Amino acid sequence: MGTKIYLSTTGAPVDPEDARISVFDRGFLYGDSVYETMRSAGGRPVELARHLARLHRSAAGIGLVIPFADAALGDAIAQTHAATGNPESYVRVIVTRGVGPLMLDPRRSEDPTLVIIVQPLVVPDEAAYRRGLAAVIVGQTKTTGGLLDPAIKSGNYLGSILALRQAIAEGGDDAILCAATGEIAEGATSNVFFVAEGVVRTPDLQAGLLAGITREVVCELSAELGLPVQTGRVWPDDLRGADEVFLTSSVRGIMPVTKLDGRVVGGGVEGPITARLRARYDAYLAALG
Ligand SMILES: Cc1ncc(COP(=O)(O)O)c(C=O)c1O
Repeated sequence: MGTKIYLSTTGAPVDPEDARISVFDRGFLYGDSVYETMRSAGGRPVELARHLARLHRSAAGIGLVIPFADAALGDAIAQTHAATGNPESYVRVIVTRGVGPLMLDPRRSEDPTLVIIVQPLVVPDEAAYRRGLAAVIVGQTKTTGGLLDPAIKSGNYLGSILALRQAIAEGGDDAILCAATGEIAEGATSNVFFVAEGVVRTPDLQAGLLAGITREVVCELSAELGLPVQTGRVWPDDLRGADEVFLTSSVRGIMPVTKLDGRVVGGGVEGPITARLRARYDAYLAALG
């Protein structure tokens, strides 16, 4: 069990202490990069094809052409996971615009850097899922309509980091961010769902958010359970008055929110529809393994 890093510069998995990239790499200097985070199930990255498709969409969104074929990326991930000996892994794939002179102009950086970090998968235990999280709806807004589309999963997460800092300062575990209109967009590193009067709802992509792969999968599984997810505009008061709230992301899966802005949500523990969806999501992961 352990951590291994694959770098395009070495072309093979190495130990973390041997994984070095230049301080002139634009990923380090400017967050000029795109990335994906996945977990494995049965030793294979979950929804790899959808994650790689989003990586390409993100790259296109910042004018970066990824020079690594999907098959080569898949092989590098598999090789790195095998080198760790982990039964299941956390997998992060990062592509930066590469090394260049110390100037913002991106035209002189034409050799993207690939970094794949594979480490042991750590997920919350069952008690943590039942207990759920305390989330805080923060004042910061997503920069919708700006140059950096929130649909791009770039290496620049300062907005989410500041939102998380604020949530923690207010006694929360996680942050929920709003769009410039004041409507709910997404979590710091997750998408947001809620249940009201038996209906599962989530903000529409128009709110300016990352099209989460888990969000997509949860919508599919929910429909299978006869609970089609409604998308639309969601306001802070919708969440505050909801019976159940949960966050979705590739590593945590479905994580209940049982406290919002210091107030208890529903019964203060994982709600019944969230529990049904989480059980269905666990079965989906088990079937992949
Ligand atoms: C801002 C943001 N929204 C949503 C998500 C959830 O996406 P996924 O389900 O693809 O992990 C993430 C994941 O890191 C994220 O960073």
